[in-house]
Amino acid sequence: MKNVLQIAYLIAALGGGVSQALAGSHGERPVGAAVFARSCIACHGIDGAGAMPGIPDLTDQKGALSKSDKVLLKSIVNGIDSGSSPTPMPAKGGDETLTEAEARLVLDYIRREFGN
Ligand code: HEC
Repeated sequence: MKNVLQIAYLIAALGGGVSQALAGSHGERPVGAAVFARSCIACHGIDGAGAMPGIPDLTDQKGALSKSDKVLLKSIVNGIDSGSSPTPMPAKGGDETLTEAEARLVLDYIRREFGN
């Protein structure tokens, strides 16, 4: 329920931007924010701090985002089970349709939004 509210909030906050982003400029290449809203927000939350226990806080500057792009892209595409969370992260966030390009876009987005 909370996640539904968060998604509703995100759509309200970003207004038309999201639907535009989802459609992409020519119906392709959705931007990172839209990828995040589609495939990541349920677990990582609108603020990146984690929507439930066991999800790492992406806003922690000494946390996951201190890793290199190469490592994080691998985690996003292949999933990661570091043992430090009670649950693993599923490959592509569980979204089979996630492309490598979208993984890069969403990584840029989370660095911009949650990193400093
Ligand atoms: C089903 C819940 C879930 C979804 C959906 C999900 N994640 Fe995660 N994510 C996790 C968990 C749990 C971890 C920590 C796993 C661990 O450390 O073992 C994690 C870790 C991460 C990390 C840190 C990786 C590292 O190397 O430390 C990044 C970055 C990340 N997720 C990005 C994303 C992105 C981007 C998406 C959307 C494409 C996404 N996640 C979707 C649960 C999820």
